[in-house]
Amino acid sequence: MFLRVDGLTSGYAGSTVIRDVSFTLDRGATLGLLGRNGAGKTTLIMTLMGLVPPTAGTISLNGVPLAGRRPDQIARAGVALVPQGRRIWPTLTVAEHLTLAARRPGPLWTVDNMFDIFPVLKARWRQPAGRLSGGEQQMLAIARALLTNPALVLLDEPSEGLAPSLVDTMADTLAILTAGGVAVLLVEQDLHLAFQACERIAVLDKGTIAHRASTAEFRRDQDTAHRLLGV
Ligand SMILES: Nc1ncnc2c1ncn2[C@@H]1O[C@H](COP(=O)(O)OP(=O)(O)OP(=O)(O)O)[C@@H](O)[C@H]1O
Ligand SMILES: [Mg+2]
Repeated sequence: MFLRVDGLTSGYAGSTVIRDVSFTLDRGATLGLLGRNGAGKTTLIMTLMGLVPPTAGTISLNGVPLAGRRPDQIARAGVALVPQGRRIWPTLTVAEHLTLAARRPGPLWTVDNMFDIFPVLKARWRQPAGRLSGGEQQMLAIARALLTNPALVLLDEPSEGLAPSLVDTMADTLAILTAGGVAVLLVEQDLHLAFQACERIAVLDKGTIAHRASTAEFRRDQDTAHRLLGV
């Protein structure tokens, strides 16, 4: 297995938020991580990225142990984060965001092929990112992550604030990623996107994985969706 997370536990200043979380993810596969507000999805993503230190458990990527490493070391090991709320720099231009991200050129993703996926970034090249629409900022956040040529992409609610048509574009983009062998962990509240993009689903409830299923199984199981997600 490419990514192996085992018994991962973490939280903030003495309060444990995620407990004993274990899952695996293969290259080119997409796992959808669902859960109510406050379930611990962002905390799990931040722990994988080294932004919240784990208090127990292991993370291994392609056999390399990552738990307890610094975020820059984890990024260099091939992990990229598309954070919740996008976290772009409003005063930096699209050009500045993408040239900074492309500092260490990799084999697969370049600024030019980013333009093929997101032509709007070419049209907005000289604009400050703060003046882009929410959807455009989300594309910028994804392009920035891809330009590091990651092997594993963590996306934290990328559909948040996007128009429905852009949610479909997002699903297409994730399909391009996985076709290139990238592993994707997708945190979502938008079931439509999670169902379109993921072959497996895990549901986080109060910091632990309360349910796992194939997407096809999960879609049929409305009782579980209702119990764990309230939908
Ligand atoms: N920086 C922080 N310091 C202290 N507690 C935090 C911090 N960030 C989150 N928490 C707490 O951790 C718990 C899980 O929050 P988290 O942001 O991981 O949930 P989430 O599943 O991503 O929710 P949402 O769907 O709303 O984004 C919540 O109780 C939250 O209050
Ligand atoms: Mg969150």
